Amino acid sequence: MKKWKKIIGIAGALAMLLPFAACEAPSTRGGASGAANKSGKISVGISMPEQQLERWQIDGENLKKELEHFGYKVTLQYADGKTDLQSSQIQNMANQGANYVVIASIDGTATGAAAELAESNGAKVIAYDRLIMNTDAVDYYATFSLTDVGRMQGEYIVDKLGLKEGKKGPFNVELMSGSPTDNNARYYYEGAWKVLEPYFKSGVLKSKSGKVPKSLDDWKSIGIDNWDRQKGQAEMENRINSFYNDGTKLDAVLAPNDAIALGTVNAVESAGWNYFPIITGQDAEKANVAAIVQGKQTMTVYKDTRKLAKATAKMIKDLVDGKKPNTKDVFNNGNKDVTSMLLSPVSVDKTNAKKELVDSGYISAADAGL
Ligand code: BGC
Repeated sequence: MKKWKKIIGIAGALAMLLPFAACEAPSTRGGASGAANKSGKISVGISMPEQQLERWQIDGENLKKELEHFGYKVTLQYADGKTDLQSSQIQNMANQGANYVVIASIDGTATGAAAELAESNGAKVIAYDRLIMNTDAVDYYATFSLTDVGRMQGEYIVDKLGLKEGKKGPFNVELMSGSPTDNNARYYYEGAWKVLEPYFKSGVLKSKSGKVPKSLDDWKSIGIDNWDRQKGQAEMENRINSFYNDGTKLDAVLAPNDAIALGTVNAVESAGWNYFPIITGQDAEKANVAAIVQGKQTMTVYKDTRKLAKATAKMIKDLVDGKKPNTKDVFNNGNKDVTSMLLSPVSVDKTNAKKELVDSGYISAADAGL
């Protein structure tokens, strides 16, 4: 965001807050000290990006439940994929005296100004799943190991194609990355690209569309806006129609998450092929797990959002209790190294879907089609 825009945004928001600031001094908030606000309870605002994707609903509900379990007052809001709405929701949370705000940003850079406002109003800011970029106003970050997610997708393609056993191909692979506004998307792509790059270099893997970023920094060139399923589908339909409608086999598709994987499955189905390429994914959404069981999608990377919610709630509890949260990683957000907690994702396909997802209670056997 341009600096002046940011300043105007903050000034405007501060003006909105002035009447409240007059009756409640920031020192009574207790980000740092953990003191409760006027209601006598610690209050936590949760800002989730949208409800289209199952995961954010589950994240929001779990986080709320975990925090309420500790006796905190919780406000949960979804921003419908709109960055302005998310910023004003965060501003309102700060305005109403939140001691902590947990933010899963739509656009990690756009959220910076609202995070700054929340901090200046006395709240501690925790970035959830997605980092808040280019600001000092983020205290902690809780997520899954981002590069591991991409690595698992890349390794799955390599294993399934038998490249380690020396299969020479050449195999046709199409690559997509996540939303250009989401900092996570870069790391997912990086993890996958590290694994796939040597095979592209040696010519064992090829991409008929030529849509292969020249360097890591160029990852946005294959980004799908907002991780949108329909946009992913349209992109794959274009590539299929232009490069694979003459019988050329498409061996694998690097789809960065389950929404885009489902778009890819749809594109392949509408091409009327008698096979599905290897299709990766991420999130273990119900429809995708069913598609894996049916042999349409090949794998997903499962991130147990129950664990992320629990870990984040515990982090807040530690801060409230004046303890140091159990974090050992750091992530740079362009301004500073943010103390981070990275959980481990799990690679899931047909062979372990029941064990990992159904037996652990993440989804029901009926939803998985098992
Ligand atoms: C999350 C993924 C999710 C994607 C789209 C990413 O930041 O880490 O789990 O699929 O956003 O919502």
